[in-house]
Amino acid sequence: MRTLLVIGIGAGNPDHMTVQAIDGLNRADVLFIPDKGAKKNDLAELRRQICDRFVTNPNSHRVEFDVPVRAEPAPSYRSTVDDWHEAIAEIYEGLIRDELVEDGCGAFLIWGDPSLYDSALRILERVRLRGNVAFELEVIPGITAVQALAASHKMALNRIGDPVLITTGRRLTEEGMPQNAGSAVVMLDGKCAFNTIADKDLVIHWGAYLGTPDEIIISGRLGDVGAEIERTREEARKKKGWIMDTYLLRKRE
Ligand SMILES: C[S@@+](CC[C@H](N)C(=O)[O-])C[C@H]1O[C@@H](n2cnc3c(N)ncnc32)[C@H](O)[C@@H]1O
Repeated sequence: MRTLLVIGIGAGNPDHMTVQAIDGLNRADVLFIPDKGAKKNDLAELRRQICDRFVTNPNSHRVEFDVPVRAEPAPSYRSTVDDWHEAIAEIYEGLIRDELVEDGCGAFLIWGDPSLYDSALRILERVRLRGNVAFELEVIPGITAVQALAASHKMALNRIGDPVLITTGRRLTEEGMPQNAGSAVVMLDGKCAFNTIADKDLVIHWGAYLGTPDEIIISGRLGDVGAEIERTREEARKKKGWIMDTYLLRKRE
């Protein structure tokens, strides 16, 4: 039976790699590296650097594969994502069937942690349900962008006894600051959704390229720093060609 390791590699700093993740990389015969196009080449490059630095198994090799670009969400976000996942499942199935021998071990290197806004586990479940290739699955956790944000701002995610909600920029725009959330962490926000929040007295702790040499962090009262974050974000995005940012919102103490 083939074995697949789904390895969290951390959120951009190779030092985020855990001992368990390094051991996993070295158990694999094949390391699968996704290529998400020229704009996101830096992300594939970090995976290559991680392999260069940590892989000592001389018998393993890397297989790079193209990830199809998701269509614009129409008619509905869910059906677009569904079609996109089906296309990726087909690619994963081909990789597992063609690149791994019957008892081989392959590793997928997942940004941050596989449990957080990442679809690899869902897509591999689709592959399993298609019934054409059988495999055992192991998941190795990684450091998420949320943990990197908390560390860079030297803050706890929750206030004492309060909940923390992790959401997306799209949901924040649609639903506003979640009531009863205590603290809300926002990911996948391409449009500065914090600007749509009416309560400008909230505190925001924002971070881009967390854990990398290009890291930028800004925090303060939303009404005071919102415009600065938007400007900084746009400048950085233009300069680098891409940006990944995450932020936490909550009431001031
Ligand atoms: C597809 S999700 C992947 C999350 C990842 N699985 C994790 O555990 O952090 C991508 C989002 O994660 C956040 N993100 C990932 N890496 C980041 C980084 N180094 N700095 C800031 N945000 C990051 C951004 O909100 C980005 O839009």
